[in-house]
Amino acid sequence: LDSPSVGIYEDLADFYEELHAGREKDFLFYRALVSDSCVRVLDLACGTGEIASRLASAGATVTGLDASETMLSLAQERHASIRWLLGDMRAFQLVDRFDLVVCGLNSLQHLETDAHLAAALNCVREHLVSDGRFAFDIFNPSNMFLGADRHDVMMRRFFSTVAGRELVLYEDTHYNAATALLHIDWRLVEAVSGRRVAESRSIMRQIFPAGLDALLAAAGFVMEAKYGDFDRTPFAPSSAKQIVVVRRT
Ligand SMILES: C[S@@+](CC[C@H](N)C(=O)[O-])C[C@H]1O[C@@H](n2cnc3c(N)ncnc32)[C@H](O)[C@@H]1O
Repeated sequence: LDSPSVGIYEDLADFYEELHAGREKDFLFYRALVSDSCVRVLDLACGTGEIASRLASAGATVTGLDASETMLSLAQERHASIRWLLGDMRAFQLVDRFDLVVCGLNSLQHLETDAHLAAALNCVREHLVSDGRFAFDIFNPSNMFLGADRHDVMMRRFFSTVAGRELVLYEDTHYNAATALLHIDWRLVEAVSGRRVAESRSIMRQIFPAGLDALLAAAGFVMEAKYGDFDRTPFAPSSAKQIVVVRRT
């Protein structure tokens, strides 16, 4: 898929898990959705399979789908017993039907228009059993965060076992309110020498709560729960996240 939203993962795939360390709360949230009556699970935009592998260890039969070959090959290397499929979340067709579809870590924000998001929601719906659920998390747009461009913001400093040294991640962001696209540039540099290790540009569309709820309803979903945090705090206008569980009607 020729898209900046996949390119970033191709460029930073080796560092992906180190850059996103500390997601135990997310994993517990998704893992708790698996039960005796909810075992067939599709992980959309599965990346390196961080969520998928937790669901599999909770007893689910998991399929992971992602548009990045590089991310999928890492997933395959780490978790060979899970089925990994290359595909676009806006247009995939599997014969399988699932009790649960998940799409974690803001991945729906990589879809750049409402039409693309609607296409993905329709695809999800078609792949769910009649009362199946779709669970995902995205950010809750913050006017304060989006209101001003940011430059050289240090996001993370960590010892990278992949690079064998201390790395620092810097971020620039620019928000285009007309398109609702947040443009994000990442630079990963060696902490000591400042030498550049990797860089990447990506786009995250801002999905506002009212618009999201309308698109979900139009795609044939009913809201089961909306949280503002992975600890299941109910969603509020000031929440950092929108964590949603919907059911197919
Ligand atoms: C933030 S990562 C999330 C990965 C995984 N869900 C996790 O929690 O670690 C976003 C993923 O979305 C994938 N992606 C972006 N656009 C996509 C699309 N249209 N279809 C399928 N995957 C896509 C990227 O390749 C990347 O692996």
